[in-house]
Amino acid sequence: MRKQIAAANWKMNLTYQQGQELLDKILAENIEIKVHHEVIFGVPFPYLIMAKEKVANLKNYHISAQNCYNKKSGAYTGEVSVEMLESIKIHHCIIGHSERREYFAESNLMLSEKLDLLLGTGITPIFCCGEPLSIREAGTQNEFVEKQLQESLFHLSEEDLKKVVIAYEPIWAIGTGKTATTEQAQEIHAHLRSVLAKKYGEDVANEISILYGGSVKANNAKELFSCPDVDGGLVGGASLDAVDFAEIIKALQ
Ligand code: PGA
Repeated sequence: MRKQIAAANWKMNLTYQQGQELLDKILAENIEIKVHHEVIFGVPFPYLIMAKEKVANLKNYHISAQNCYNKKSGAYTGEVSVEMLESIKIHHCIIGHSERREYFAESNLMLSEKLDLLLGTGITPIFCCGEPLSIREAGTQNEFVEKQLQESLFHLSEEDLKKVVIAYEPIWAIGTGKTATTEQAQEIHAHLRSVLAKKYGEDVANEISILYGGSVKANNAKELFSCPDVDGGLVGGASLDAVDFAEIIKALQ
């Protein structure tokens, strides 16, 4: 069975103390999760070790970085390498979030380099894709996301592709309170899976978890996660509230 994942993306929010408190509150709920469920906290770099220690004894709870650099090491002041993340045993890394693509000019090619570095270490990449409003309005979202997959992922071997988690996040739904309808989410997730199937075959495509992101909330998570091709969510705003994120974890199918 495909993994069903509730992934928090804290972005650049919360102080260290607030982050500790939030994790403590969520973990105190002792939410019972199934063997095919995973809960991931994407926290800012300075909190990775603290967060890792908090989930150390919990099965299927993992900590993720929100980014990494596309070069191995060297004179790149202020950047964080994949090797650094590996050395503190970080399990996942979000790459290609639309905020990174927009504010830091991250290209599909740059993301393909990040993928190679991550897969070289065994850190699971959470690869984000998704279209802006203008593309959705023009009705060409399927072609748009297909190109993102082609240019960043399609050089990977079948074995490596299977290690990637994909997060589909329509930019017009991120932080706007405007969620994709279940029909819109299911349709594009099924399209993404068919694009993977065309290149790698049905069996491989069926193994890949595809998360939905964009205003996932406690009151819409269950419906979104019930779509056959939606395998959980990447959650921004609602992951900063312990009660809301706990509800989202409980909504996993
Ligand atoms: P949001 O963010 O849940 O606040 O819309 C999602 C994301 O950007 O990952």
